[in-house]
Amino acid sequence: MNQTPHPFAPSAAPRGLISARSSGLFGTAHVPGDKSISHRALMLSALAPGRTVIHGLLEGEDVLRTARAMIAMGAVIAPPDRAGGTWSVTGNAAGLRNPRTTVYLGNSGTSARLLMGLTGGFGIQATFTGDASLQKRPMGRVIKPLSLMGVQFEATSGDRLPLRVIGQPQLRAIDYTLPVASAQVKSAILLAGLRAGGVTTVTEPDPTRDHTERMLRGFGVTISRDVQADGSVIAAIEGGQRLVTPGTLFVPGDPSSAAFLTVAALITPHSEVTIANVLMNTLRTGLYDTLIEMGGDITFTNQRAQGGEDVADIVVRHSALKGVSVPESRVASMIDEFPILGIAAACAEGETRMTGLAELRVKESDRLAAIATGLAACGVDVTAGDSDLTVRGTGNPPAGGATIATHLDHRIGMSFLMLGLVTAAPVAIDAAETIATSFPNFAALLNSLGARITETV
Ligand code: S3P
Repeated sequence: MNQTPHPFAPSAAPRGLISARSSGLFGTAHVPGDKSISHRALMLSALAPGRTVIHGLLEGEDVLRTARAMIAMGAVIAPPDRAGGTWSVTGNAAGLRNPRTTVYLGNSGTSARLLMGLTGGFGIQATFTGDASLQKRPMGRVIKPLSLMGVQFEATSGDRLPLRVIGQPQLRAIDYTLPVASAQVKSAILLAGLRAGGVTTVTEPDPTRDHTERMLRGFGVTISRDVQADGSVIAAIEGGQRLVTPGTLFVPGDPSSAAFLTVAALITPHSEVTIANVLMNTLRTGLYDTLIEMGGDITFTNQRAQGGEDVADIVVRHSALKGVSVPESRVASMIDEFPILGIAAACAEGETRMTGLAELRVKESDRLAAIATGLAACGVDVTAGDSDLTVRGTGNPPAGGATIATHLDHRIGMSFLMLGLVTAAPVAIDAAETIATSFPNFAALLNSLGARITETV
């Protein structure tokens, strides 16, 4: 019998996957819930006094790390008792309590950075750590503003995890301008701002995803978001506000996961795929704008608002793509999509130029290096600079035939499996378990549409 694993079950043993040429992808698919919204749904409902029911939560490893962390700090979180059911979270209105042991956050940067802001304003102490990838990622960008607010930190290796957060019962409000475009840093400051005396502001020169702001409003918090004449955005939150339980939350499908299916259908001849119920927040949809500019046949149907966010169904047909230059102003709205754009660019005719990509160096892996090395191994003409990437496609599928190192990076693994749909020789990835952080049923879903992804022997 085909049993759905329990959401808190340990992940499967490491394994490689290989993707062979497909004769076309067809059908309608639902991708798992949005990762960013799922993290925030668990965190905010754990701070609210009553019971919140969450529909469509992503049951990926990263989100389950946040769930376990909130349980360790006093929330009551019940997974669904059957596949496709709802999650329920009962917050602890009295606040958070000290977790008894070190909180392990696996691969999840969003858990780490948002939880530092969330816990910093409670008089508790918590030690956070993560896997080898997360331990390499810079945390100074959150430590700096949170320290200005009064949170204390103890670290053993500079600004890297493991880190001990020594929270304070009351924080100082700050006005902070983000030196790098980061929704995680912005969110950490806004969550700490809930516990500060006075109004905390965060100015973003390059606007990033605003799910924290939208969801806080859903929990009854007043938070402003003002777009300035120069395009920068200022978010402001007054401390001391109490969250009100919204009752029910809906998590739409993740556009960053739908991106793999979208590019797969565009590059694989004969394909026609519909991806239902996908988040369409314009601060997340830069990849779709880019693919349409490349000549992609992508249409959005059934556009509607749901739970404070815009959603739509995406219809994608195989298309002849051409290279484009991606405007730097669009980078923040597609920050997680450059690995899969690299695959689309490798199948397009002409040069695709991507600049302003310094942040890709500090994601789950050094994505700029991983994309460039992987594409070159598959026979693609690619050049990488410190913060830019140029891919020159011929309009025909590249050779393939390589095994790509994922470096504990789910999006690198999924992207190169999509290249294998069209290459002459199959493309393999060395370790696929990391895919479960954001898209646990990835291979099964793609295969149900016509992909040929199997385990390596
Ligand atoms: C996220 C913000 C982005 C993104 C990450 C999720 C979030 O990170 O890359 O996958 O949920 O706030 P940065 O804040 O580092 O840009």
